[in-house]
Amino acid sequence: MSSSREKPILIIDGKRLDGRSFDQLRPLSITTNVVPNADGSAFIEWGNNKIIAAVYGPKEALPKHTQDPERAVIKCRYAMSPFSSAEEHGSSKPNRRAIEISKITKEVFENVILIDEFPGGEINIYVDVLQSDGGTRAAGITAAAAAVASAGLPMRDIPYAVSVGKADGHLILDMNKIEDNYSDADVPMTICPRTKEIILLQMDGSFDGSKEFREAYSMVLKAGEEISRIQKEALKEPYTKIIDKYR
Ligand code: CDP
Repeated sequence: MSSSREKPILIIDGKRLDGRSFDQLRPLSITTNVVPNADGSAFIEWGNNKIIAAVYGPKEALPKHTQDPERAVIKCRYAMSPFSSAEEHGSSKPNRRAIEISKITKEVFENVILIDEFPGGEINIYVDVLQSDGGTRAAGITAAAAAVASAGLPMRDIPYAVSVGKADGHLILDMNKIEDNYSDADVPMTICPRTKEIILLQMDGSFDGSKEFREAYSMVLKAGEEISRIQKEALKEPYTKIIDKYR
């Protein structure tokens, strides 16, 4: 979200306001299996973002007219809780932004889940933001990917997402809210780590040509190694616990 309000200085002495370097991620942790009722779930804490993703299905798509005889239908709902924002509180009704983020999240998972294996089925993905601080769509997709994998759904890859922005002429990775609000660009990307393909790219603002875009893409891929590692550790964790118990 770029803003025309008076812009604060975002970079001081080569560091960002929270002390990070340009290509540094915020602290990130993921825990899976946090919603026992769901088939798969994950809780992500990424900077000050706290988000739960829960996955149900595949089950028969209902009402029947929503069924696709060739593949499973993915239904996705991203929502910010009324108390999640640092500024606005109150309504949690779906607004245009929530509808947009639900749509792009659905498209990410249509691309990676092997939906052809479940004709007539439905998979529900819920992303609930409990606390937000910039980058919730990326954090939501990263958590949902771990939740889908923990549900045992077949996927061609476990995607992750992170955004790159631009502030005071520098590319900066994984923006928090203040950076997001006052940056000159906000470019969230979702990546399939195995092939390194970009399966979702949004652009608010712009980069200065293809050289800068390539630089942003390599920042994302480098950070992605860490994000993917954390997703996989989170997926292994419940099994490690069981193994340790019987040791
Ligand atoms: O969260 P993300 O960066 O993917 O989406 P955004 O639309 O660029 O929003 C940036 C940030 O603004 C969010 O992460 C929230 O911290 C904040 N925001 C909010 O507090 N209330 C809203 N209704 C929308 C955004």
